[in-house]
Amino acid sequence: MKNKPYVLLSCAMSIDGKIATYTGDNELSDEEDWKLIHKLRTECDAVMVGKNTILKDDPKLHIKFYEPTRLIRVIVDSSFSIPLTSKVFTYKLKTYPTIIAITDHALRPKIEKAKLKNIRFINTGSEKQVNLKKLMEELYQHGIKKILLEGGGALNWSMIKECLVDEIRIFIAPIIVGGKNAVSLVEGRGAERIIDGFKFKLQNVLKRDNYVILNYFKA
Ligand SMILES: NC(=O)c1ccc[n+]([C@@H]2O[C@H](COP(=O)([O-])OP(=O)(O)OC[C@H]3O[C@@H](n4cnc5c(N)ncnc54)[C@H](OP(=O)(O)O)[C@@H]3O)[C@@H](O)[C@H]2O)c1
Repeated sequence: MKNKPYVLLSCAMSIDGKIATYTGDNELSDEEDWKLIHKLRTECDAVMVGKNTILKDDPKLHIKFYEPTRLIRVIVDSSFSIPLTSKVFTYKLKTYPTIIAITDHALRPKIEKAKLKNIRFINTGSEKQVNLKKLMEELYQHGIKKILLEGGGALNWSMIKECLVDEIRIFIAPIIVGGKNAVSLVEGRGAERIIDGFKFKLQNVLKRDNYVILNYFKA
């Protein structure tokens, strides 16, 4: 697909591939890793997450440790169900403008209310969930050339399935948390056979203390 932003998927996971425990605890990164994530944010035009990540963590999706640069927050939320009290609506909107990617199923009155707070919307149409290809095209037209995709697992799957992820950076914490209800790096339906999986090429392996950082590019 041409005319789409470059997408870098970044996440911290356990040895067993979980990005949060079954209770939603996701404190896997150490301070060094957080610094790296915030550095990556300074190098991107936008940071993007799925609506469950907002509901569970209520992140600011801002820039810490570095001089803040303009960073657009993109939240993928088909029916616009996240509360207007979420930090992405209340924290420094001028530096970090928020765009909600929605479908026709989102309710008008709530959208109008949010627009009064300078929240912007991209409606990708009548499908059940946000059409990510259309979203990427629109974001590209808005001047967004590089996106840091910060999960969670459901959005990661859809982005990979649509071949929209160009690079992956995985921070592996030396811990196993298990749990069939714990969110994995990639959720969704998954590939039927190994051969149907989406291929990536290992670019770099970095070992730091007890941690490993892996870097892959789309094969
Ligand atoms: N360790 C890490 O690096 C890290 C990073 C981020 C998040 N997390 C964790 O991940 C967990 C959340 O992950 P999650 O998998 O439950 O949810 P998620 O990926 O954050 O959000 C998924 C939701 O996005 C909406 N969505 C809209 N269009 C979509 C599309 N085309 N494809 C997929 N989703 C679409 C869907 O809700 P609608 O259908 O209602 O729109 C879907 O349920 C949290 O516990 C968070 O702490 C960990």
